[in-house]
Amino acid sequence: MKKINLAVVGATGMVGRTFIKVLEERNLPIENIYFFSSSRSAGSKITFNGKEYTVEELTETSFDRGIDIALFSAGGSTSEKFSPIAASKGCVVVDNSSQWRMDPAVPLVVPEVNPQDIAWHKGIIANPNCSTIQAVVALKPLHDKYKIKRIVYSTYQAVSGAGMKGYSDLENGLKGEAPKKFPHPIAGNCLPHIDVFLPNGYTKEEEKMVNETRKILGDQNLRVTATTVRVPVYNGHSESINVEFEKQFDLDELKEALKNAPGLIVEDDPQNNVYPMALSASGKDETFVGRIRRDESVESGVNLWVVADNIRKGAATNAVQIAQELIKMWNK
Ligand code: A2P
Repeated sequence: MKKINLAVVGATGMVGRTFIKVLEERNLPIENIYFFSSSRSAGSKITFNGKEYTVEELTETSFDRGIDIALFSAGGSTSEKFSPIAASKGCVVVDNSSQWRMDPAVPLVVPEVNPQDIAWHKGIIANPNCSTIQAVVALKPLHDKYKIKRIVYSTYQAVSGAGMKGYSDLENGLKGEAPKKFPHPIAGNCLPHIDVFLPNGYTKEEEKMVNETRKILGDQNLRVTATTVRVPVYNGHSESINVEFEKQFDLDELKEALKNAPGLIVEDDPQNNVYPMALSASGKDETFVGRIRRDESVESGVNLWVVADNIRKGAATNAVQIAQELIKMWNK
């Protein structure tokens, strides 16, 4: 098997650190690995597989050394500037920002859902938004079987999704300090506000869920709406999903389809207080689904509660899985 040269861009951030953990766990065939950040953290040390590395400042010449894959999580403007530079040097960028996700020339991939889209990349592959990734892992088997007509998302999103600064706002807020990242205190509060507001009254996070769901499931006719909420949870996004189908379904068969779906674990035994939770999903790579029940207010619909670690499956793990698929493709 060909060994690859890999770079992590944004290595000192919340997702960047998890990239490193997931890469160690998954044992990719890596020849050389490089870690990049802004000038602020350049020079700091990172340990990978027991060896110490120095973080380098990301510059226009960073990719002049035969890097095969670069995992980016350093914000949209860094991706906008540096992904095309990396791609022009023959590197495949797996980008965690929202910069390229809706570009028709860029595949938007969740390996359990649309791995076939990796094949048509032109140097950049986008990692979807964290809340969308876990949702489509649960929705894909149902869309295949019953054809989804409409989706209503209501999210309960952890502060880790807002990076180190979001995390600190909850920690410090619990000690009575004023918020620095969020516009209001997050400790003891729920903020129906993730990313910026758009002229139609939705937030950009809500718009991302709508557009990215359609692109990943390959169905522009899907009717999707979302309300995204930041809650005082450190890590792990929870989602209430109401799904309406074109076809009729049998609830036991539907549960069976979810049980057999890749990357998805059914936790659904309400009599024994078993259902997915942020605390139990945190640190795991799978997506968890429970509270599976018929929506009695519509002709054919189901309500789900879907939880995943937003930094792992919602970001780092999904990107590393894409890298693994690329390596598989190159070794065929
Ligand atoms: P740095 O540590 O130097 O600021 P988070 O989202 O958790 O705050 O992490 C953001 C990550 O992106 C960090 O590793 C940060 O590096 C990195 N980053 C931010 N701006 C740039 C930039 N202009 N070039 C390279 N890396 C950047």
